[in-house]
This record gives sequence, structure tokens and C-alpha cells, in this order.
Amino acid sequence: MQYHKVTEEHIRKLQTILTTEQVLIEASQTKPYGSDYTEDLFYPPEVVVMPFTAKQVADVLLFCNENLIPVTPRGAGTGLSGGSLPLLGGISLTLEKMNKIIEIDLKNLQARVQPGVINQELRDAVEPLGLFYPPDPASKGSCFLGGNIAHASGGPRAVKYGTTKDYVLNLQVALPNGELIWTGADTLNFSTGYNLTQLMVGSEGTLGVVTEIVLKLIPFPSQRLLMLTRFENADSACAFIPEMMRKGITPSAMEFMETKAMQIASEVTGIPMSTDGVGAFVLIELDGNNQETLMSDCEQVYETLEKFGAGETEVAETTEQQEKFWKLRRIMGEAVKQNSIYKEEDTVVPRYELPKLFTKVKELEKKYGFQSVCYGHAGDGNLHVNILKNNLSEHEWKEMIPLAVTELFETCKILGGTISGEHGIGLVQKSYLPIVYSPTHIALMKGIKQVFDPKGILNPGKIFG
Ligand code: LAC
Ligand code: ZN
Repeated sequence: MQYHKVTEEHIRKLQTILTTEQVLIEASQTKPYGSDYTEDLFYPPEVVVMPFTAKQVADVLLFCNENLIPVTPRGAGTGLSGGSLPLLGGISLTLEKMNKIIEIDLKNLQARVQPGVINQELRDAVEPLGLFYPPDPASKGSCFLGGNIAHASGGPRAVKYGTTKDYVLNLQVALPNGELIWTGADTLNFSTGYNLTQLMVGSEGTLGVVTEIVLKLIPFPSQRLLMLTRFENADSACAFIPEMMRKGITPSAMEFMETKAMQIASEVTGIPMSTDGVGAFVLIELDGNNQETLMSDCEQVYETLEKFGAGETEVAETTEQQEKFWKLRRIMGEAVKQNSIYKEEDTVVPRYELPKLFTKVKELEKKYGFQSVCYGHAGDGNLHVNILKNNLSEHEWKEMIPLAVTELFETCKILGGTISGEHGIGLVQKSYLPIVYSPTHIALMKGIKQVFDPKGILNPGKIFG
């Protein structure tokens, strides 16, 4: 596709579709939109537009479609696969001004929100009403719900409550032809033709731009119990998890952290943590509404821990202690980034296969001579493998690491998993897509893209290599 550069005339037109203030053209203003949380990548847009309404989003898309200008939707920029980076320049369409919680429907337990609402803001708004919005990515304090939908985000609570996809009921979407549609209905079940709502979830802004969201809420569980347990080796930490789930205990979080990850997080936060003789930590949260049930589940957890030779287990006695444990876990991605340039892989396998995946990571580490730091949502079989650049040469980083990543992803596939559980394909994983999908599968996906966006103006250069 031969795209056009943004001209003075285009800018004047955009200023009439929006207002002058909603169109940023100075390099100092547009620069922050050229990067996100992904590695050290930088692809600045030519122009940034900040719509206030769904109609403005749709009008911008139509304008881009008619003028063959690439347009890259953007949430909070916390993505880890480069999905919001304007690879080919053009327009960065930020949803940051569409940040209202429109309605919390107590009769149906639903929330109607704009895409620029921060995940934590919705949680904070519904909690005093006794309601809960479970999907909680590590970046929940800053990421937008629209971005969560674009990447089908998960988070620690997914093991019990599911991911974003399980809470999205209906979406208003702006299309490249300038129309706005609702993808489904505000209902819990839906059997009315193709499920376009779920098609939008995880489509990374390549099919349309979400302009309004209807989400399912659930009652807030009143009791919580959090414990941090230590294992001498990572293998038994991984193996313990499926065993516990088989017993019928579904923790509300089950986070695996290898010792290196904990050490880095402890250094960055200043929260002391003894790691002597520890191979891996597992953070286990149980929640519910009945203290007795929680305590009996907890006993079973202890029994299983013993069986798998777990070491010291600390129960967070206070809210402050709980927050410390969660802070250590949630900061890991950022903490590793402060340590070295790194690549973050978002591997996922059926949870019983997790030990095999972890073993493979460590084999590859030896074979290719890199250092890795692993942590993740073990209850989901979702392992974040951070490959550090450290002292690797540019050549090794650019030529050799992709070979290691290819082997890692092939292992995911063999184990019944895939190459991203919750970060998306975006820019940085697109060349690996053929490892998990056949040419026919990819052609089907491209066919869908063609139907929604025949001129390919929406987030070009993402998902497909
Ligand atoms: C986390 C992000 C990286 O789990 O997904 O910390
Ligand atoms: Zn994660």
C-alpha cells in the first residue's frame, strides 16, 4: 500500500474535523506518542489527534481512509508488543480524552465506559458499590480499558476470574468507512451470528477503534488471604500449581517468580526480601465471601505445599503487607527494564506443561548464552520470559536471540500453547506468527482484516509479518 504523508492541507482539514487544540503537530508534542513500554522502540507519528467523541473518531478514520494516511490508535501506551507505535508515521489517534465512566448499571451489574478510562479507576468506582471488575494487568494503575480490549489483556486474577474477553459484553466501534456500529448486545449470552465483539477483543486496533464499552461486573469478594511461599527449585514451584487446582481449589491469583525476578524487584522497591536458598517464589491469593471456606482452602494449600517440599510461607497479616507483596510482583516488568535492555516474551502453555516450558527457557539460556528472568501467571500457564541484553553484542542481540525465541515459541506450540497470552503480537512478535498458524490460518485472518479495512489504513504493519 502506498500511503500518503500528512500535508499542511491535511492538518487544516483535521483541525476542522476536530478543533485546533485537538491536533498536535509540534515534534515536542508528538514525540511521546512514538514510544510505549515496548523495549526501546521509537516510531514517531507525524500528527497526533485527540478526539472527544465517537463521531470524531469515526470522522478521523474516514478522513484517513479517503486520504490513505496510516492511523494508529493509542491507549495509555503501556503495551509490551509495540501495538500503539506508528510504525509508518501518519496519525496517532489517542483515546486519552475519552475517559468517562458513563454509567454503572446496578440493576444489571454492568458498566458503560469510554475507552480511555484507566483500569484502576473503574475498579475504584465500582468497589464502594460492592462490585468487582476482575481483569487487572500489572499496569492497572495506568493502562486504559480500551487498550485492555485491544490486547485481550489478562493479569494475576485471570486464573479464577478470566481475562478482559470474559467481561466485554458489547462494543461501539468506529470503522474506516466512517460508520459507528455496536458489535453485539448488552447481554450475557449471545448467539446472533458471528461474534464481532470477541473478534474485536485482541484485534490490536487493526479492524476498528473501540469508542464505547459495555462490561460485565460481579459482586466484590469480601475476604482475601495472601501468602508468599518459597521453593528450593523452580520446577517444584511450577509442579505444585496444577496439583492444587486439581484438588478443586481455585486461587484468585497464583503468581510464579523466579528468585532473580524477586531480587530485582526488591532492589528497585527497597522492600527487603530474603532469597537465600530460594529457587522460586509463588504468590497465592485466595478470595471469597466466607471466612471458614477460605481457611479450609488455606489448609489444603498448606498440605499441598508440604507435599511439594515448599519452604517458608509468609501470610500477609495486614493490608500493608499484602500491598508490599503485590508491589514486588507488579513492578517486575519495570524493574527488569531498569536493569538492562530486554525482550519480553509472553509465552503460554496449558498449566501442567509449565515446568517443561521453564526447563526449556533455562536450556536455551545455556545454549545461546543469554540471561533470562522469568515470572508470570503460573495458574494460567503464562510465563513472562525476559531476555536481558546485558553484555550481548548487537550482532548476538539481533541475529542470535531471534533463533532462541524461535526455539522457545516452537516449544510453546509443541506443548499445546502459543506465543502470547496477554501482550499481543503487535510489532515485535509478528515475524513469529507462522510458528503457531498455518498459511491458511493467516490468510483467513488477513481476509477479515481486508473486510474491515480494505485500504489497510488502520495500524498498518502489526500482527502480520
Ligand atoms: C506482568 C505484565 C508484564 O504480568 O504482564 O507483570
Ligand atoms: Zn502479565
